[in-house]
Amino acid sequence: MSEDLRTPRALSDPALFIAGQGPAAGSVTLVIPTFNEAGNIGELLARLADVLPTGPACEVLFVDDSTDDTPAVIEKAALDLPFPVAVLHRESAEGGLGGAVVEGVRRADGDWIVVMDADLQHPPHLVPELVGAGERTGAGLVVASRHLPGGSRAGLAGSHRIAVSRAATWLAKGLFPRALRGISDPMSGFFAIRRPLVTTDALAPLGYKILLELAVRCRPDRVAEVPFVFQDRHCGASKSGAREGLRFLAHLAVLRSSTPPARMIGFGLIGLSGFVPNLFALWLLTHAGVHYLPAEIAANQAGVLWNFALVEALLFRDRRRHRHWADRVGRFALLANADLLLRIPLIALFVGRLGMQVLPATALALVTTFVLRFAATEALVYMPRPARTARTTKS
Ligand code: GDD
Ligand code: MN
Repeated sequence: MSEDLRTPRALSDPALFIAGQGPAAGSVTLVIPTFNEAGNIGELLARLADVLPTGPACEVLFVDDSTDDTPAVIEKAALDLPFPVAVLHRESAEGGLGGAVVEGVRRADGDWIVVMDADLQHPPHLVPELVGAGERTGAGLVVASRHLPGGSRAGLAGSHRIAVSRAATWLAKGLFPRALRGISDPMSGFFAIRRPLVTTDALAPLGYKILLELAVRCRPDRVAEVPFVFQDRHCGASKSGAREGLRFLAHLAVLRSSTPPARMIGFGLIGLSGFVPNLFALWLLTHAGVHYLPAEIAANQAGVLWNFALVEALLFRDRRRHRHWADRVGRFALLANADLLLRIPLIALFVGRLGMQVLPATALALVTTFVLRFAATEALVYMPRPARTARTTKS
């Protein structure tokens, strides 16, 4: 990520703050992601100034990916404020909204981190209440919820967005019943979390649902909720669209398959889905007059590529950087084809030596090569390589 000149390395660096000093003990860092929100900044900061304590107990960190003059507007507005305000402008908007929040959380020094939107859909007067509820109840995470009595989604434009939000909530809660217990609104983007609970290295959010990411990966044992009315946008337009929906589904898949057994099931399901492109390619090639044997081999590659794309996007998303993509494709394809080659002698072994029937022998060979292929793919394609220095040490 490249940063611009207004952004020193650490939040504790006083130069990052436009006004005031760094945070104090028992403090709160407000992390506010912004993308072209120039029209909302003045009102947002004014309303925060009405409710936040003055002095260094509170600090505001904007993580900005704007292409308009939002950072300049923040800097100007910050001069009149009684608490420290910083803006981190990112040149490349890596990870979008989720990436911006993780970046802010990584730099936050407060005992509590409050994440909120800049467009005033999240009422600023609730910030002290979120932290207060956490302190009172001993909860590690406090969620501002639209689904509690007293809360509502008044500002969610259109009945289809309400239906989508409801379906997304059910889906998330169905997939993560334990991690989301006590959270009535896992889609909320407004919450407070204790800083020590957050392990930023484990975070890899995909899209907008950063609370879901934190609740599933950091697993706070106690959760509290505060009702809130989702307001209309003060100014400007929402940045989320249909693509966000697809990202959300991918995010759920990535989170759900983050344990080894779940990853193995995912690997199997993806393998099964590969039959579709495989058979389709076989049909195309044989209809084009290709002999069925070379067609089988070529069609198998279509299935392999399909599987590779899904495995990369859903299962090992966070483990791709250790090897170049061409290296990964090559290894993946080699293992997938070796799987076919290995299966035949294995079936012969089960039938010839162990006296098994052909069908159970084939099923056993399928399961055996599947487990071997999963283990080999994880170890040979997606495992981090040992550090170079290990090789140069002489014994
Ligand atoms: N830094 C950064 N980078 N900020 C971004 C980006 C980005 O790529 N995209 C959006 N933002 C900021 C916006 O400027 C705003 O402050 C906040 O993130 C929310 O973006 P909106 O575009 O207003 O999102 P929304 O209103 O559709 O969604 C909000 O409400 C949902 C509940 O319905 C978000 O809070 C979601 O997290 C929440 O689930
Ligand atoms: Mn919004």
